[in-house]
Amino acid sequence: MPRLTLLLLSLTLATLALAAPPQPWYEKYHQRRVMVPQSYYEGLSLRRQQPINPNAVRNVVCLDTSTRFLLYDEYAASLAICTSIAGPSATRCEGNPAETEGRSGKAVFTLEAIEKDKGATINVSKDAWAGCVAAAREACPEGSFEGVCVGAATRGDVRFRLGSV
Ligand SMILES: *[C@@H]1O[C@H](CO)[C@@H](O)[C@H](O)[C@H]1NC(C)=O
Repeated sequence: MPRLTLLLLSLTLATLALAAPPQPWYEKYHQRRVMVPQSYYEGLSLRRQQPINPNAVRNVVCLDTSTRFLLYDEYAASLAICTSIAGPSATRCEGNPAETEGRSGKAVFTLEAIEKDKGATINVSKDAWAGCVAAAREACPEGSFEGVCVGAATRGDVRFRLGSV
């Protein structure tokens, strides 16, 4: 009798499996789908182009090493500063802000001209900024960090931080 029950159960399960609508291939592997920001690729290629310049930054501090950023959020957030410096037409931070922030997902970069009280504003090229982020990330392989991006303002330097929101 238990044998028959088992057989019936197997048959029922097999029928159910056959009757189930086919699952799209992506749902089979990813329960949660997240759109990758296109600027991820630009940030990635900027990082790969440049060797690390130790003089680009100073006072780098690794903050919470347990914070996890999605890699594409980190790159996209770095290019979301100054409204946006993503894309081939943007070569530098425009608009002379004294402070700015760039966010993607949970990753947020905040920047401020250290001498903003004396009228300093952020004035940095995309390449120089990418160099500051790369140097800080090189020193802090995991988690949030802060540092100073040397000469990134109309006078003095720029303090920057990658944090989580
Ligand atoms: C910003 O930097 C560029 C390039 O270094 C420089 O030519 C320009 O004069 C600077 N702008 C200001 C307002 O300091």
